[in-house]
Amino acid sequence: MIQRRTETTLERWLPAPATAPARLHAAMRYSVLGGGKRMRPLLCHAAGEALGANPQYVDVAACAVELIHAYSLVHDDMPCMDNDVLRRGRPTCHVEYDEATALLVGDALQTLAFQLMAEHAAAPDPGRQLAMVALLGQAAGSRGMAGGQAIDLAAVGMALSIEELEFMHIHKTGALIRAAVLLGAHAGAADESTVQELGHFANRAGLLFQVVDDILDAEGSTITLGKTAGKDAAQDKPTYVSMIGLGRAKELAAHLRVEAHAALDLCEVDTGRLAALTDYIADRSF
Ligand code: IPE
Ligand code: IPE
Ligand code: MG
Ligand code: MG
Ligand code: MG
Repeated sequence: MIQRRTETTLERWLPAPATAPARLHAAMRYSVLGGGKRMRPLLCHAAGEALGANPQYVDVAACAVELIHAYSLVHDDMPCMDNDVLRRGRPTCHVEYDEATALLVGDALQTLAFQLMAEHAAAPDPGRQLAMVALLGQAAGSRGMAGGQAIDLAAVGMALSIEELEFMHIHKTGALIRAAVLLGAHAGAADESTVQELGHFANRAGLLFQVVDDILDAEGSTITLGKTAGKDAAQDKPTYVSMIGLGRAKELAAHLRVEAHAALDLCEVDTGRLAALTDYIADRSF
């Protein structure tokens, strides 16, 4: 139900395909709509629900995070980064369109996310909303996702320490997962201690998300994943699987799942939906 709601909202807020420049707008819609688990919007709404947030406020933050996520995937797949041809079961943006268009799709999706956060009410008061914009900027930028991606690229062929690997994962993937949870909480006017507690949960859930992504890359099939399996090993990327092996990566995932649940148990709000999503993140097959 949240997935359908997210689909409808994204559909509405993306520029219409006929609007000029039509090719860029078509490529933006291609990259965002009709695929993806919508995990970040789900987490955002689950946190919002825990705080009794107005779902219309949450829609804004949930879509903004998903737009930034979609942009990160478009750029991540480009030849200058992971050089992937398949995403969500379809040709990647630069394959379906071209590289320059993929670059601009990323630019435009990212700015659209911040435009939405500025144009629509996403919190009960403007001061909090401004703090949310800053939070999203931090999570997407060089001290968040983009920084993690830079480390990822610099680490190809290198043996990182476990601390460095965790730092990379927490940034490239954990930062936006954390932002999704915290923005949902802020939409519900969460107090400082609840933000802290949910932040602790989100740190574990974000790392869990990427550890499972590493495991799926090694174990999953291209058909099920909707993206080319085995790419991390083929490209000599340091991952939890390459660094500690599949068995221990699975043990770590199990441990992070327990830690995420333990963090939720310390929250004073009803975190049932976040707990269910944690299990989904851990058990997913794509
Ligand atoms: C893939 O994210 C990239 C990572 C950050 C691991 P998802 O697994 O959430 O991809 P979609 O949105 O469902 O396609
Ligand atoms: C991607 O990590 C993290 C992003 C910020 C997009 P990966 O490179 O492992 O993601 P996939 O496996 O291509 O989806
Ligand atoms: Mg990558
Ligand atoms: Mg990739
Ligand atoms: Mg991966």
